Amino acid sequence: MKILVTGGAGFIGSNFVHRTLETHPQHNITVLDSFTYAANEANLPAGIEVVRQDICQPLTGSFDLIVHFAAESHNDNSLRDPLRFIKTNIEGTAQLLEYARLNDARFHHISTDEVFGDLALDDPARFTPSTPYNPSSPYSASKAASDHLVRAYVRSFGVQATISNCSNNYGPRQHPEKFIPRQIINLLHDEKPRLYGDGLNVRDWIHVDDHNDAVWTIIEQGEVGETYLIGANGERSNKQVVEGLNVAFDRDPKDFVHVTDRPGHDRRYAIDPSSTEALGWRPQYTFARGLKETIEWYRANPQWWADSREVAEETYLQVEKELG
Ligand code: NAD
Ligand code: DAU
Repeated sequence: MKILVTGGAGFIGSNFVHRTLETHPQHNITVLDSFTYAANEANLPAGIEVVRQDICQPLTGSFDLIVHFAAESHNDNSLRDPLRFIKTNIEGTAQLLEYARLNDARFHHISTDEVFGDLALDDPARFTPSTPYNPSSPYSASKAASDHLVRAYVRSFGVQATISNCSNNYGPRQHPEKFIPRQIINLLHDEKPRLYGDGLNVRDWIHVDDHNDAVWTIIEQGEVGETYLIGANGERSNKQVVEGLNVAFDRDPKDFVHVTDRPGHDRRYAIDPSSTEALGWRPQYTFARGLKETIEWYRANPQWWADSREVAEETYLQVEKELG
């Protein structure tokens, strides 16, 4: 197949490209990316074909399959500049769906568990494909809108599309603005990890390779028009994650600071992965192994994160001033 990977210079998309070269080398990959602040040239394997273009522009060329990762992806940014999220995540997805409609291309849409809103800490429920949508931030609302567009194109035009909603990813090449890399890099600088609010918010962590293997399972075995939820039974509070990181750096587990909370901060996400497990997929990583390897990757690659970390921390400083 000729495969177009949108957002292939960002975190999950570039890991998808690397993983696909290992596990599905028979296919031909093109990356489409507009290289926002979140992209990094160094994420791309040598020799890969790259189209530098905004997904809001009409797509040309000939592709059998589009795997659509490109998005504005950071909640904190969506609270400062929501319209950028509406444009890329909604209009950009619509533009790619138009290509799929007119060219009869297979389409896989990468979405997030955040479209379902949040759960209480003591709620025994987890998200399933039939959980009603209830997004909280401009980011998650824009992703919810993009999911609705995919379903509308399936029903109205017969576009051959599937959707996956995944929980929080971690692993190599994740931008230093995100929680786990931010705290690892703080610790590499002998600085304390920073927890929003009381630190009891829960995220359901999955290694990026497990996510991308699940995406391939859905592409190959999923049913067109269906939605699949991807997660690795990895619920942990942010405080637990930070304590584990401190231990990995031989520090007192409680040596962190609480900082001003994110406005509207979702309390808990939790995925019931049985829709994807029914296709035969299972996660391979334990959180302990994945976190250890991720720490080693950031330790070994300071040149990869030095510049973007500086910019991200300047932005966070500004946000902390604005929030008081
Ligand atoms: P990222 O921010 O690391 O990468 C996004 C990539 O998209 C970047 O390379 C960026 O340059 C590109 N991009 C942004 N706007 C674009 C535009 N208008 N045109 C072309 N390219 C553009 O994001 P990520 O964490 O890798 O997330 C990838 C996808 O996975 C997103 O759709 C996100 O909603 C979804 N997702 C992420 C997670 C997570 O934990 N990170 C979990 C579930 C789902
Ligand atoms: O659930 C999937 C989502 O996971 C994806 O859709 C998003 O693209 C991805 O960014 C992620 O969203 P979160 O908002 O959960 O991720 P983030 O890394 O920003 O934060 C994870 C948790 O850690 C969250 O509860 C906020 C908290 N946090 C974050 C930062 C940056 C802190 O406590 N301290 C921090 O410094």
